Amino acid sequence: MAQGGDWQQDVLRQLGQHGTPDEATRPVSTSAEPTAPRLPYSAQEPPADAAGAAGPDRPRRTTPAPQSEPAVRAPRTVRLPLHTPESVPTVDPRLAHALGRPQHGDSLPRRTGRTLRGLAASASQDVAEGTRIARELQQPVTTGRVIAVTSIRGGVGKSTVSALLGRTFNHYRHDPVLTLEADAALGTLPVRMGAESVRWSCADLAQILTPAMQLTDVTGYLVPVTDGGWLLPASQGRVGAPMDVRTYRTVTLALRRYFAVTVVDCETLPGEVARTAMDTAHARVVVAPMTAEGVSGTRQVLDWLAQLPHSALADTVVALSASSPDTTLDEKTAAAHLRETGVIVVPLPYDRHLAQGGPIHTAMLGRATRDAAVRLAAEAMHRAARVR
Ligand SMILES: Nc1ncnc2c1ncn2[C@@H]1O[C@H](COP(=O)(O)OP(=O)(O)OP(=O)(O)O)[C@@H](O)[C@H]1O
Ligand SMILES: [Mg+2]
Repeated sequence: MAQGGDWQQDVLRQLGQHGTPDEATRPVSTSAEPTAPRLPYSAQEPPADAAGAAGPDRPRRTTPAPQSEPAVRAPRTVRLPLHTPESVPTVDPRLAHALGRPQHGDSLPRRTGRTLRGLAASASQDVAEGTRIARELQQPVTTGRVIAVTSIRGGVGKSTVSALLGRTFNHYRHDPVLTLEADAALGTLPVRMGAESVRWSCADLAQILTPAMQLTDVTGYLVPVTDGGWLLPASQGRVGAPMDVRTYRTVTLALRRYFAVTVVDCETLPGEVARTAMDTAHARVVVAPMTAEGVSGTRQVLDWLAQLPHSALADTVVALSASSPDTTLDEKTAAAHLRETGVIVVPLPYDRHLAQGGPIHTAMLGRATRDAAVRLAAEAMHRAARVR
């Protein structure tokens, strides 16, 4: 098992300067409206001249520091953004209103029946399995681990699976967890993670991040997730330029220094960013829809992964997702077809709460969905944490 090394010590030391590690790994705000980004320390000092001419050690300050800005220790050199993007709602407020109440993944009779059956179930078996999974999920890492989520088709549940993974890691781990959207095509990750608005995107951060920044500087540009952890969207939810490979590489490489686990919601394969993400991640999750054509297409992706130079299949997990209640494909046969390549397959059942769309409330997930999400996260972490 990998041992926690200098990397985690450094992060915890940084956090210790600005609060307890536990406080600092939680969102800086849980208010519905994300707070204004906390500018790096040097942004809070008045520029030397009125024109604010930028130089390497005196970057141009184009935005006033927020009033409530806490003083933080100065990194010597930080790159300030040339402009502050506006905060944009993730869902039109009129639509958000029309979403209705979240419904539970399991029906009431099912929940009641489970409670009764649960009384007769073997508790010790559950505890042993739960302990094993928690150990996988909590294992220390020497450097930040990246887990990329993709699929061969659109709309099969990549963002849903990414959100489930991000929330699961954050629940189990005490070090910082980031969920990153690498799909600028009007992705749904911010909505699934419960973000009401977004401001800074991957492309913005690619220009701002410098090695001198501390975790507390970086999180000022991220969206705090209600249950904990952080989110970095790919865009402000508008039709725009797709993310390029350079931005992806810059951002993931830089952010790995601060986050123990980064879950990346990728575009669909064979997009260039998705291929890069799959190639460079520590572990991969391929989402396969529970249809004959979906399973067959995913098998082709797995065969492609098998040809990559460093046997990528060993670090790949398939989430076999039933996003329709009407699926008739036999789950065992579908899973066996995919397992022939040597990958682990974790079935993700149809869940009424997930089917609803909108923010995912973990307490509203069906029992089988929660179990599947935790197992998927444990399998991915087991692979990502291997020392290479
Ligand atoms: N396990 C599930 N049970 C029920 N519905 C699901 C499940 N997984 C996904 N869905 C449904 O499928 C829809 C699409 O999922 P999601 O947005 O995660 O797909 P995606 O692959 O990220 O799409 P895109 O390619 O557009 O980014 C969700 O809004 C939800 O309605
Ligand atoms: Mg998506």
